[in-house]
Amino acid sequence: VTLDPRDWSAFRKLAHEALDEAIDYVEHIRERPVWQPIPDELRAAFRSAPLPAEPTPLADVYAEFRTTILPYATGNVHPRFYGWVHGGGTASGIVADLLTSAMNANVGGRDHAAVEIEREVLRWCYGLFGFPAEASGLLVTGTSLANALGIAVARGATGGTERRAVYAAETAHNSIDKALRLCGYPPGTLRRIPVDAHDRINLDALDAQIAIDRAAGVVPAVIVASAGTVDAGAFDDLNALADRRDRYNMWLHVDGAFGALVILAPTLRDRLAGIERVDSLAFDFHKWLHVPYDAGALLVRDGAKHRAAFATAASYLKSTARGIAGGAPWFTDFGIDLSRGFRALKVWFALKEFGTRQIGDLIAENCAQAARLGERIAASAICELSLPVQLNIVCFRYRPAGLSGPQLDELNEAIALDLAESGFAVVSTTSVAGRRVLRVNLTNHRTTDADLNETFDAMCAAGARLSGAPL
Ligand SMILES: Cc1ncc(COP(=O)(O)O)c(C=O)c1O
Repeated sequence: VTLDPRDWSAFRKLAHEALDEAIDYVEHIRERPVWQPIPDELRAAFRSAPLPAEPTPLADVYAEFRTTILPYATGNVHPRFYGWVHGGGTASGIVADLLTSAMNANVGGRDHAAVEIEREVLRWCYGLFGFPAEASGLLVTGTSLANALGIAVARGATGGTERRAVYAAETAHNSIDKALRLCGYPPGTLRRIPVDAHDRINLDALDAQIAIDRAAGVVPAVIVASAGTVDAGAFDDLNALADRRDRYNMWLHVDGAFGALVILAPTLRDRLAGIERVDSLAFDFHKWLHVPYDAGALLVRDGAKHRAAFATAASYLKSTARGIAGGAPWFTDFGIDLSRGFRALKVWFALKEFGTRQIGDLIAENCAQAARLGERIAASAICELSLPVQLNIVCFRYRPAGLSGPQLDELNEAIALDLAESGFAVVSTTSVAGRRVLRVNLTNHRTTDADLNETFDAMCAAGARLSGAPL
């Protein structure tokens, strides 16, 4: 008995049908609702179905997937999905994922092509960001984990966690808080520094906090810069932060989850000035490179420090000078996973098939779309921009006269919920200056200007319907 199909030709037929279905899904995504709620009975069934002890024919499992799972996706493949910071994937990502599963490579170590492809992808990234040949890196699930691993390297390089201070903008992502917790920094280690008028770390406030810490005998250890904050799309001044890093012998880590890839857009890349000076960088491929979930990366300028944070000896993992156990150092020595999937293949496919120039143009186009939507909102009598549009994110409020602050909060939240429930588009919400606002994020290569205009019209129509304001 093996788990392979008994009837390969029947399996082949079903697999081809599934591939056709996957392609149809992406090709005809516009014809579907962006999102729809999971029906109550289906959710109840998900939550009560017993663990299958006996086999089910693959055709039945597949049929169940088609009717109960596929229709209730997040929606981020759709051109009118603007929630949070999701990438939309690509049709050819299906091919890369299929082949990845067929190879079933374990990229924790040993000597095989998948390891070399991950190294190749990383080498391309070192070049992009001006990292030296001694740099190291690792593909991971996403920027949250890459931030945690980067902070772990920083911890080792800056002498541990006790009486240490870590600095980040007040608007830095919550994965930084998680990273510090995971790395054992005591509560209160993170100093959230106020931002300036452009939502960047206020350098005077940073200097003042560093002075306070030093006077109190606390060692300034790590600065976490943001390259693309989640609400404003702001970039910290990396050169100014690298100067402080040099002055106080700190570690400079950058969270560039989506913003790092603006390096590919000639009109935007100056926002990353100084990136070649940072110690570590976390960013995603599943956002603006559009590879299917999940794929992010950590790059570390000094590969020896990176390895020192994670490498441990184990007799059963000893590498050899030749043969399948060769190829050291292994990726397992640069992170916490021993078994690791072949994420690099879909990234390699995407970089080769699309090329960095086209990806850069699409990034610039998303930012231009955000700017145009910002202009429409600025010209609207009933909406107001909540933050200047700096990159690809538009935060605004629908604001009819006569409603109190809390009523406006509720109204804007309701607009986002109604829009998603209508199936027409998905936007998210966030808080700006303590007020709930609508948030439109563009990391979507399928969105057209017509999509964006119709989405704005739909939000205004929902606002008018919910508040009784004139359209
Ligand atoms: C600025 C920023 N940092 C970190 C993250 C976390 O990245 P991931 O979702 O890939 O873990 C995000 C996600 O959107 C982000 O926008």
